[in-house]
Amino acid sequence: MSDGLRRDRRGSRDLRDVERRIDDAARAASLPGGCADSDAIVRLVGVSRVYGEGETAVTALVGVDLEIAAGELVAVMGASGSGKSTLLSIAGGLQPPSSGEVIVEGRALSRLDARATARLRRRSLGFVFQDFNLIPTLTAIENVTLPLELDGESARRARRQAQVALDAVGLEAKHDAYPDDLSGGQQQRIAIARAVVGGRRLILADEPTGALDSVTGEAVMRMLRARVDDGAAAILVTHEARHAAWADRIVFLRDGRIVDESRRDSTDALLGGIR
Ligand SMILES: Nc1ncnc2c1ncn2[C@@H]1O[C@H](COP(=O)(O)OP(=O)(O)OP(=O)(O)O)[C@@H](O)[C@H]1O
Ligand SMILES: [Mg+2]
Repeated sequence: MSDGLRRDRRGSRDLRDVERRIDDAARAASLPGGCADSDAIVRLVGVSRVYGEGETAVTALVGVDLEIAAGELVAVMGASGSGKSTLLSIAGGLQPPSSGEVIVEGRALSRLDARATARLRRRSLGFVFQDFNLIPTLTAIENVTLPLELDGESARRARRQAQVALDAVGLEAKHDAYPDDLSGGQQQRIAIARAVVGGRRLILADEPTGALDSVTGEAVMRMLRARVDDGAAAILVTHEARHAAWADRIVFLRDGRIVDESRRDSTDALLGGIR
């Protein structure tokens, strides 16, 4: 047998293996009770993502497996273009993978219709986007209450929770300001308050400390850590080692693949106790 043929055969066996794992995961998740045996809040199984087609196609993620349990904060690091934001948006069901499966709180996203996906996103998910995504015609507090009200919370209770979340990020004096009248760092803090308000169980944060000074950045990390210690799961994309040091695990991406992973103990050693 030629080397090429042997390689091809091995390749197709690997592919079949991945397909089987994806199928098993989706099937387990669609059983009554979902993945009751796993305490994972989010699970990515063999996730790949290709943007575009043909010669201009860009492969952003390749065969990513990742599982994050309640009480776990995972930092994702990697060079620009390595697939960090793509991973986050797929984990949150904002875009589907090209192949692979995403399971959030025991439910396989590929098996949910658009309405159910939207409901799951609203209830379970807090997203801090790299570019904030605030609604410019709403004040700070209205931006934070909106997802709660959409989810059926009374206006009064939503407002109360939003006040607490905004105060926690140091915006007590800015509740009624519009995003355009605030600094980048202040806008980022509104986005963070909006993501953690209402006890959502999965927090996905794309460089949430990027526009913040170090004191506010640390306050944000403390808040994220507290939500996770309270039972949420979080994925944090960051370029900064001192913020990654708050994580239980660091996942390194290169060219769309997870190339390395380190846990808390080794993380501390790696980062020399920066935190
Ligand atoms: N909508 C899109 N259409 C086409 N290509 C895209 C799209 N979004 C991302 N890409 C490409 O996919 C790859 C991964 O992008 P991604 O934004 O996930 O990287 P990143 O690690 O978040 O980078 P950064 O640190 O700069 O934010 C890059 O090559 C990027 O150019
Ligand atoms: Mg990005």
